[in-house]
Amino acid sequence: MNAMRQAHWDAVYSAKSEAQTSWFRPHLEASLRLIDALDLPRDLPVLDVGGGRSTLVDDLLARGFTDVSVLDLSAVALAEAKRHLGARAQTVRWIVGDVTEVALPAAHFALWHDRATFHFLSEAGDRARYVASAVRAVRPGGFAVVGTFAADGPERCTGLPVVRYDALSPAAVFAPAYEPVTEHRDVHRTPSGNEQAFTYVVLRRCGGDAGFH
Ligand SMILES: C[S@@+](CC[C@H](N)C(=O)[O-])C[C@H]1O[C@@H](n2cnc3c(N)ncnc32)[C@H](O)[C@@H]1O
Repeated sequence: MNAMRQAHWDAVYSAKSEAQTSWFRPHLEASLRLIDALDLPRDLPVLDVGGGRSTLVDDLLARGFTDVSVLDLSAVALAEAKRHLGARAQTVRWIVGDVTEVALPAAHFALWHDRATFHFLSEAGDRARYVASAVRAVRPGGFAVVGTFAADGPERCTGLPVVRYDALSPAAVFAPAYEPVTEHRDVHRTPSGNEQAFTYVVLRRCGGDAGFH
């Protein structure tokens, strides 16, 4: 695992409360709307990539998903996510790892979700490794929901440079293994009141039918 990246994120989560982090919102409504529209059977495996201490996992469990995994570089963030879930945390698979390196089961997940992690991969090699991981771990016919800063979004976050994407460019990065299903623009208001433009894409893993649609 990239130790510098991990130390950066552990330090951010150790130093800042939720309200002090720009990406915080009590619920990830934009993601949830896109996930709800997919109407996936609740027993299929889903993965939140770079889930941090967000409440997406809480909301997925509340919707009846029974096979939820959360992956993040930061053990500090995942410990906090577990704490707010309480006893329900035991039903979740927690993976401390770097999405560009971690070994995930092949052709396994029916949903790959990422809000605000992919855009931190500013080097082409890291992006290629991320996409390779998403291609390997998601079953044919499965979906990826990826939210990044939009072309008019911020240029940096937590002191790190980010890549900003217009509506079609994340889909281009994931082609040809994924095909675009839909895209959505969202403006996130940070806890301190600033606006951040996001682009969300829903992508479908090509190469077959997962048997659930
Ligand atoms: C801006 S936060 C977003 C957190 C969460 N998705 C949300 O929307 O609240 C980015 C998250 O990505 C994680 N992260 C950054 N680079 C990563 C990597 N290479 N592999 C796994 N997680 C990573 C960070 O630890 C952090 O939790």
